[in-house]
Amino acid sequence: MLKVIQITDMHIMPNAGDALLGIATEKYFRKVLEHAEQHHPDTHLMLLTGDIAQTPVETSYQNVFAMLSEVQTPCRCLPGNHDDPALMQKIFNTAQINCNPIFESEHWQFIFLNSQKPKSAGGHLAEEELALLNKQLNLKKEVQTAIFMHHHILPTDSRWMDTMQVENHEHFIELIVPHKQVKTVVCGHIHQEMEKTQDGILYLGTPSSCFQFKPLQVEFALDDKPPGYRVLEFHDDGAIETEVVWLPVSLEELDLNSQGY
Ligand SMILES: [Fe+2]
Repeated sequence: MLKVIQITDMHIMPNAGDALLGIATEKYFRKVLEHAEQHHPDTHLMLLTGDIAQTPVETSYQNVFAMLSEVQTPCRCLPGNHDDPALMQKIFNTAQINCNPIFESEHWQFIFLNSQKPKSAGGHLAEEELALLNKQLNLKKEVQTAIFMHHHILPTDSRWMDTMQVENHEHFIELIVPHKQVKTVVCGHIHQEMEKTQDGILYLGTPSSCFQFKPLQVEFALDDKPPGYRVLEFHDDGAIETEVVWLPVSLEELDLNSQGY
């Protein structure tokens, strides 16, 4: 069994202590890391699925790198719409912490895709990302597969959020469905929990390590739920057990009247 912790949408600010919508994002990322370390010390791999930085400056990634180094669990990082992939690759560049797009073990492979659309908050899978996915799925037909990316493939049914859905999601779905080894597709970006099954594939969305968005809204709206993360257990026989863990805190300082982020 492989135990994985997914932490997403940390929105780390250029200066530690700076707040976004009233929330000191770095403080809550640290709390999430501590909670995961304390309750899941048997984790094999930790995944950061994008929007690691709010503005992609070197100091933000260096702060994250320092915090991850203390934890010592192997970490993979992929970019969100707020991130700078080249800067991430420069800083997350060790055996423990890196941006390698493939993780392989005996029973499972994980494929990490970049769903960034240049100059946009929305999602798109570029030809080279789809080519990498296709190649790996053809290469390892017998190995159970989980795919991770920042943006969502299936709609959340919040209209404002779904304007940012991976725009070529139909193409992606056509590509993966014939590959029966694909078991799950996991995203961040949506700042809420989502779990849907389509074509026998489990689609998961994970809350942010800072603030959350209210589900089923026409326009941007914040939720008062606490920071969270996801635990995934990938069993040798292909079974997946997963749960979202919510931190036992309440975000009193959240500016619920904000119009955007
Ligand atoms: Fe995002």
